[in-house]
This record gives sequence, C-alpha cells and structure tokens, in this order.
Amino acid sequence: MADDAAPRHRRVRYAGTHPKRFEQKYKELDAAQHPEELRKVISRGQTPAGMHRPICVAEILAALDPKPGEVALDATLGFGGHAQALLARLLPGGRLIGTDVDPIELPRTDARLRALGFGEAALSTRRINFAEMPTLLPEAGGGFDVVLADLGVSSMQIDNPARGFTFKADGPLDLRLDPTAGEPASALLQSVTRAQLRDLLVDNADEPHAVALAAALQGQYVETTTQLATRVRDAMRRALKPGMSTADRDTEVKKALQRTFQALRIAVNDEFGMLDRFLAALPTCLKPGGRAAILSFHSGEDRRVKRAFQAGERSGVYVRVAPDPIRPSFEEQRANPRSSSAKLRWAVRADR
Ligand SMILES: C[S@@+](CC[C@H](N)C(=O)[O-])C[C@H]1O[C@@H](n2cnc3c(N)ncnc32)[C@H](O)[C@@H]1O
Repeated sequence: MADDAAPRHRRVRYAGTHPKRFEQKYKELDAAQHPEELRKVISRGQTPAGMHRPICVAEILAALDPKPGEVALDATLGFGGHAQALLARLLPGGRLIGTDVDPIELPRTDARLRALGFGEAALSTRRINFAEMPTLLPEAGGGFDVVLADLGVSSMQIDNPARGFTFKADGPLDLRLDPTAGEPASALLQSVTRAQLRDLLVDNADEPHAVALAAALQGQYVETTTQLATRVRDAMRRALKPGMSTADRDTEVKKALQRTFQALRIAVNDEFGMLDRFLAALPTCLKPGGRAAILSFHSGEDRRVKRAFQAGERSGVYVRVAPDPIRPSFEEQRANPRSSSAKLRWAVRADR
C-alpha cells in the first residue's frame, strides 16, 4: 500500500536556458534522453556535466598505433572516451584493460561501455591505482602492446561539487580521487606543518605566494571549498602589492586559487609518487616493441615523464621517444579549453 505520508522528492525544474549549478544540469546528466542539450553545451566550448571529452585522440592513436588483436591498458579510464577510440582499433581480436582509482565513476563508465556493446572478451575494468600496473601482467598475458595514461582528474570529478575539486562550487574540501582511502584535504591542512604546506604549494603548483598562503591555511579548520577559497582570497589581498590594478589583482587571486587546489589535490592523492612508480614499472609492463603515451597537464608531471622517457632511451630500454611534447591543435584548444595545458609524450620499447 502506498504510504501517503511519505515525502515525495520532486526534482526542481530549472526554467532558465543556461543552468549554472551542477544539480540544475539534469538534462546534461541524462545525456541519452537529451542529446540536443549535449550538442548545445559542446558547441559553446563547454563540457556537459557528468561527461569528459577525451583530449588529443588523433595524436594518441597516431603515437600508439593500436592494431587488431593487440592488448592495451588504459591506465586512467575516466569516462572511457580514449578507451572507446582504442577499442575501435584493437577489435577484432584485441582487448583492453581499463583501470581507475575512482569508485564512483568507474562503475558508471563500465556500464556505459557495456551498453555500447563491449563485452568481457574485449574489455575488463579494474579499480586499482596505476602504480600497481604490474599486478595486471598475468591477465594481460605477460605484457601490453599499448599503454595510455591521461593524468589528473576527469571533468566528472571536477564538476561534481560533492567531490570538492573546485573553488567554483561549494562542497566538502575533499579532493580525493578515491574518497574511500587516505585523508581529505581538510584533514591534510590540520596535519601538515607550515613548512610542509609551503613546500607542497611550491613543489606541486609553483605557487609564488606559498609562504603567505601556508601561514594563512596551515592548521586551520577548513571544511569546505568555499571556506578555503575565502581564506585564499583574504591571504592574497594582504600579500599583493597595493598599487596593482583591480584586473591584475583578480587574475592573481584566481591563479592562486587554481594553484592551491591543484597543490592540495596532488598531495592528497600522492600523484607524483604514483606517477613515479608507474613510470618505473612501464618498461617491464610493455611487450618488446610496445608503445606508451602519457598525457600530462602541468609542468611537474611533464618533467617526470620527459626524464623517465629520456633516461629509458639512453639506457636502451626505449628505442624511440617523443623528441618534444605534442600539444592539442589550436582547433581543439578552442573547442575544448580544458585541453589547453595538455602535453603528450610517447615512448616505444626496444625489441628485446
Ligand atoms: C583525465 S581523466 C581520464 C579521462 C579518460 N582518458 C577519458 O577519455 O575519459 C583521469 C582519470 O585518471 C584517474 N586516475 C588519476 N590518477 C590515477 C592513478 N594513480 N591510478 C588510477 N587512476 C587514476 C582519475 O580518477 C580519472 O578518472
């Protein structure tokens, strides 16, 4: 029997044409029912809520050259856009293992790819950190022909306020790719020393105002993204020279906000440590002649990839590596501004 007293939860309909808040974007979040909404958002150069647009797809396919029958690893499955493009080349006969640490998005991506017709023979998804890549070797038959890593965060993670990745929406100050492990950024601010916080702002984001920001944030009770943003803005107002124009001040404050969130995200997920382990394991996980491509989004990542690939070339473990980073085309950067900082590097394992 229906319980008439039970509260009914109705979705609040949004009457405007440009929804700003995540919960107002229910049409984008239900893409299958509203394809016209998706087209509109993408034509404005934006990423629809709940989606991620894969970056440098053509450049990645050219570098990895996946062929029918080969075995690939997409180490950062995300929304599965790159995985889909790789699978189109690996089939028939090939297969792809997709890994991600995110327990919230991974099942959604698995379901979406299954709905597109990729069965267990073509695709397996695993929730592991890519630093653990060697544990996949038995399943891969001893090694991969193709390995892709598209570092950092997906648009689904950034855009969902509940994940706490952005200062643009109010949410818990979390920033973990896997919210079931480790400690959120709010706890990190309590546990670090001021010197440690200053160093991580410098090391992870080249923050020029690290001393002032560390003094303002360390040991503080900061539970939400909005509270952190307010503290960063206040600290920056005190740290910036009085003679600056309002426009310059606003730009500096915005950059400091972006860098602070980036630095904390890299720290709570130990992103550099995981990338170093991944890069160290890569030669033994590639088959002879196997190809790897890594897409990075800031200098700390790109530097690590460049050094590891160049050292591998010198030692003879890689027979060829990208001489320079490949950048997204001008058209891609305009169509998808989130691609603008991307740098792609590739390496080919020697035949022995
Ligand atoms: C930029 S997105 C990848 C988007 C994907 N290429 C696509 O086409 O949708 C990065 C993804 O990598 C995952 N990730 C980041 N670091 C990871 C790690 N160390 N191990 C496994 N997954 C990781 C994130 O959770 C996120 O889903």
